[in-house]
Amino acid sequence: MVHKVKGAVVRSKNADVTLETILVPDPGPGEALVDILTCGVCHTDLHYKQGAINDDFPFLLGHEATGVVSAVGPDVTEVAPGDRVVLNWRAVCGECRACRRGEPQYCFNTHNATQKMTLEDGTELSTALGIGAFAEKTLVAAGQCTKVDPDADPAAVGLLGCGVMAGIGAAINTGNVQRGDSVAVIGCGGVGVAAIAGAALAGATTVIAVDIDAKKLQRARELGATHTVDSSAVDPVEAIRELTGGFGADVVIDAVGRPETYKQAFYARDLAGTVVLVGVPSPDMTLELPLLDVFGRGGSLKSSWYGDCLPSRDFPMLISLYRQGKLDLDAFVTERITIDQIEEAFGKMHAGAVLRSVVEL
Ligand SMILES: NC(=O)c1ccc[n+]([C@@H]2O[C@H](COP(=O)([O-])OP(=O)(O)OC[C@H]3O[C@@H](n4cnc5c(N)ncnc54)[C@H](O)[C@@H]3O)[C@@H](O)[C@H]2O)c1
Ligand SMILES: [Zn+2]
Ligand SMILES: [Zn+2]
Repeated sequence: MVHKVKGAVVRSKNADVTLETILVPDPGPGEALVDILTCGVCHTDLHYKQGAINDDFPFLLGHEATGVVSAVGPDVTEVAPGDRVVLNWRAVCGECRACRRGEPQYCFNTHNATQKMTLEDGTELSTALGIGAFAEKTLVAAGQCTKVDPDADPAAVGLLGCGVMAGIGAAINTGNVQRGDSVAVIGCGGVGVAAIAGAALAGATTVIAVDIDAKKLQRARELGATHTVDSSAVDPVEAIRELTGGFGADVVIDAVGRPETYKQAFYARDLAGTVVLVGVPSPDMTLELPLLDVFGRGGSLKSSWYGDCLPSRDFPMLISLYRQGKLDLDAFVTERITIDQIEEAFGKMHAGAVLRSVVEL
């Protein structure tokens, strides 16, 4: 059977998001059909709309979602109809070279649904990060469903499906922040503020939030920043050095992903420190740095895909911390909106008015 549902689609580069009827097939082998409850609006959705990820239009957007499994393919055992799930974009394969060497968080062959969802005229849809959850139903690989506590607020825990997990993981997994470390985070949107919360969770004693928008800095303080720097007004490298005894931070996280913020991160870190790039650059961006500085300053320059998370390990752990009151996921939900308000939500994201707008379906 094919299900006809409403979904939010971008048909061509920079076109407005339109609500379309989409056709979702029943799950085949290895697949699960999910009734979506909530889906957050992530900056990566905007990158898709702008053609900054690839040109495979039309896109079915949305990838930060919770839902309830409504049907599974014949061989699926890990989830069953009725399960509350957070969708993930890292269904690990278990067989690639990363998985075989025991590092599934780097899996090079993650699973998505094999069958395609389409528009009514049969045009195949590309799904944002293999999910496509700005829709009443979506089809994913069963491994993309991480079973979670059904009592937790779906709008809040759904954010672990992308941005909040990416940010927290950039700090605790990729950056390996330790008790007593100093950490600076450049860019305090949903991802950056989550990195701040992650650094605080890991026991960092100095947590510096940097943004060009002063509105973002207040929220960063509420989620664990000990200091804030308005980089529209002062040089962030100088400011971070001043706040860390003149040396720079042990870990600096770039949650913007532009050459200028990367350079700030590079020079605002202490000798032998770590830079983590979690913001996603666009294809036209290049970086120039003196190679002698790359060598001479030592340490490590890392990128963080999805916070180097393992959904089956990290989502339940973080939901448990949320339920214990140690991680304020509710604070990331700035507003709850309907599926026809996604374009407005992009505008608010651009204006710096929200950490996350969450679509309730
Ligand atoms: N690596 C991953 O797995 C992953 C996952 C999700 C999102 N992302 C990426 O992370 C980035 C942030 O996403 P988001 O949803 O938090 O976006 P957002 O738009 O909510 O936040 C971006 C923040 O950066 C600030 N900013 C912009 N330019 C700046 C500058 N020059 N200096 C300092 N601050 C600046 C903005 O004021 C805003 O607060 C995006 O590039 C997104 O695609 C990466
Ligand atoms: Zn793999
Ligand atoms: Zn995302």
